[in-house]
Amino acid sequence: MKKLQEKEHDFSAKLRQKSVVENLRQYIAWQRAVRRSEPSSGLPAFGPVSINLDLTSACNFRCPHCVDSGIINTGEALTLDVIKQSIDTLQEKGLLSVILIGGGEPTVHRDFEEIVRFVRSRGLQVGIATNGSRLARVEKVADLLKEGDWLRLSLDAAREDTFQKAHCPTSKITLERILQDAQRIKKANPLISLGYSYVIVWEGIVLGGRELVSNVGEISEAVSKAGEYSFDYVSFKPCLLRLEGSRKESLFDPPDPDREARVVAGIGEMLGQAEAAAGPEVKILKSVNLQAMMEGRLHELKRQPVTCHSQFFRTVLAPSGIFHCPAFRGVPQGRIADHDGYLDAGRFARTQAHLDTSIRTFDACRECNVVVCFYHHVNWWIERFIESSRDVSEIEVVQDNNFFL
Ligand SMILES: C[S@@+](CC[C@H](N)C(=O)[O-])C[C@H]1O[C@@H](n2cnc3c(N)ncnc32)[C@H](O)[C@@H]1O
Repeated sequence: MKKLQEKEHDFSAKLRQKSVVENLRQYIAWQRAVRRSEPSSGLPAFGPVSINLDLTSACNFRCPHCVDSGIINTGEALTLDVIKQSIDTLQEKGLLSVILIGGGEPTVHRDFEEIVRFVRSRGLQVGIATNGSRLARVEKVADLLKEGDWLRLSLDAAREDTFQKAHCPTSKITLERILQDAQRIKKANPLISLGYSYVIVWEGIVLGGRELVSNVGEISEAVSKAGEYSFDYVSFKPCLLRLEGSRKESLFDPPDPDREARVVAGIGEMLGQAEAAAGPEVKILKSVNLQAMMEGRLHELKRQPVTCHSQFFRTVLAPSGIFHCPAFRGVPQGRIADHDGYLDAGRFARTQAHLDTSIRTFDACRECNVVVCFYHHVNWWIERFIESSRDVSEIEVVQDNNFFL
């Protein structure tokens, strides 16, 4: 059996893992039946393999670039009971991983530690995306994390003044302090995969009438800092904008090919320097959309098949509801249920009925035509398989490893 090669973004290989391939096979068979207009008994009995679990909308940073700024600090949070019951229901239906992320800042939730303990006690893989301001809370549960689990800090800077301007923390916290806290956690439990997340902000991005502070010049320094403070990787991604009115995500609004070419050249130079200077201990990861941007292929990732298949395999459970895609957090077209839609078997069945409708009627080709989709490749991979004459038994199985989608 093959190993999963590229862990982060090869979602079609992730869906072919031993513990997931049956979900994929049944999904493809179901899609074929739908397309032949066969009377169908509904979606296969599986729930999502992976969820983004937004514990709370509350955030203690005020990042001017925040892609979720329209949905944070609404006063909503998921309760511990809802979280536990939802996870139990979902695990019965095949859930294998949970990403604690936002919306808001997960470590602000009053039961953060208890939630990590619970997820881990169920044997689910766990990933934590945090702004790093409350790593003492992560430290309390860090010993529970296992190989494959990750902690990713959204730092987006290498210099203190840029960090402060990029994040506007509501209480005093420094980049230096966060890096030290992170290193202590990594040393206490080296099994944790520790990530330095870096949203690249180029010059000229104006949001809310104010220009964001560019961090392109610090890319190389961030990689050095990551090495110095025991990070495993730096993950670079381009700054996404929410388009006014639609809340869809985009890069370069309005499109401007000349400016795009200048920005790409500048980022390319800095990434090149960073790669040349990086030691062997720190990996440099580029998000799917960054890679496409650097190669002038952004338009490709905006061309989706009509059916978004990924919504069957991962969803977002947030205080404001359950959404079929992280890029549609808080967006009415992406909402498939209330926040308690996974609470018990009955609600789960109703949520899956809505998901069934969403898969059949949500037109990703139209709705996502400005979204540079992370799931573009896997959606097309599944689409082509459905339309091919290949039998699902021919799908090549990959060893279990990483269930984050
Ligand atoms: C909104 S944050 C919420 C979770 C947590 N508070 C944190 O700081 O990671 C979730 C993720 O969105 C990313 N993000 C925020 N604004 C972004 C933007 N404009 N473009 C791309 N990613 C963005 C952050 O880097 C982070 O990885």
